[in-house]
Amino acid sequence: MRTIDPKDLAQPDFHRLMIGSVGPRPVAFASTVDRLGNVNLSPFSFFNVFTSNPPTLVFGPNRNRHSQKKHTLLNLEEVPEVVINMVNYRMVEQMSLASAEYERGVNEFVKAGFTQVPSERVRPPRVGESPVSYECTVRQILSLGDGPGGGTLIICEVVLAHFQEEIFDERGTIDPSRIDLVGRMGGDWYCRAHGDALFEVSRPKRGIGFDNLPEYVKNSAILTGNDLGRLASQEMLPTPEEVAAYRQSGILDPLFQEARYGCRYLPDLLQLESKRLLSQNKVQEAWLVLLQQE
Ligand SMILES: Cc1cc2nc3c(=O)[nH]c(=O)nc-3n(C[C@H](O)[C@H](O)[C@H](O)COP(=O)(O)O)c2cc1C
Repeated sequence: MRTIDPKDLAQPDFHRLMIGSVGPRPVAFASTVDRLGNVNLSPFSFFNVFTSNPPTLVFGPNRNRHSQKKHTLLNLEEVPEVVINMVNYRMVEQMSLASAEYERGVNEFVKAGFTQVPSERVRPPRVGESPVSYECTVRQILSLGDGPGGGTLIICEVVLAHFQEEIFDERGTIDPSRIDLVGRMGGDWYCRAHGDALFEVSRPKRGIGFDNLPEYVKNSAILTGNDLGRLASQEMLPTPEEVAAYRQSGILDPLFQEARYGCRYLPDLLQLESKRLLSQNKVQEAWLVLLQQE
């Protein structure tokens, strides 16, 4: 491990380590106005949702290397309202263009070619291309530092939200493939939450835990940490009767024969079969196979 005290590194160097390791980060594409109504649009990946009661989003414009405040922050100090627009893959290049350092007063909707749609409850407009836009009032501006890179937390309360119809599935849930969000990594890297990058992990109510895994499972050279995590998430293990009935069913006969006549090590065959079942999310059956070893 590299163990680092942030005070021992120059601020930009520790910054790079943090943004390379805390991610992928969602992107708040924030639209603000100054007191004269001039529009600004800039992306911020120091951003997340913190509660839905009240619906709260927080993002963080840092000071630049000359310790100057970003235009977004200057605008929010004048007009404490913002629209936070979510960024999908289709928008990513234009969004990046909007992050360029234009002079104050330059409208990045125009520069980056986005559609300015009037908001209903706040003065800044929303981005017509965004899959979701949150009209927000600013509850608090919390300064964390006024040097180079000095951070600010903008705590925003959502007063109205807009969702494109096409991001919903038949049950009215937002489908991750349809919303197609992007995340920011370190440097110029992004990732796209789509295709093979998406997977489901069911959330156990009260799994048995690693401490209740048999030693031969915990120490297996075949089962990975993710396999063990799935096994330990099961709330109840099959009973000895169920294990015996599974053996009787004959499903595992070929495997037992392979161990006997093919001279292969039975525990390995059982663990490989269990791993295969886990990859199909058949966790109870994976246990029925593993427990044949006892
Ligand atoms: C994807 C992305 C994420 C960014 N995240 C942040 C951030 O969280 N904080 C920040 O200060 N700057 C961030 N930036 C840089 C700002 O967008 C950039 O400094 C912009 O010019 C600020 O605009 P403004 O001065 O008009 O507010 C990010 C840039 C990109 C492309």
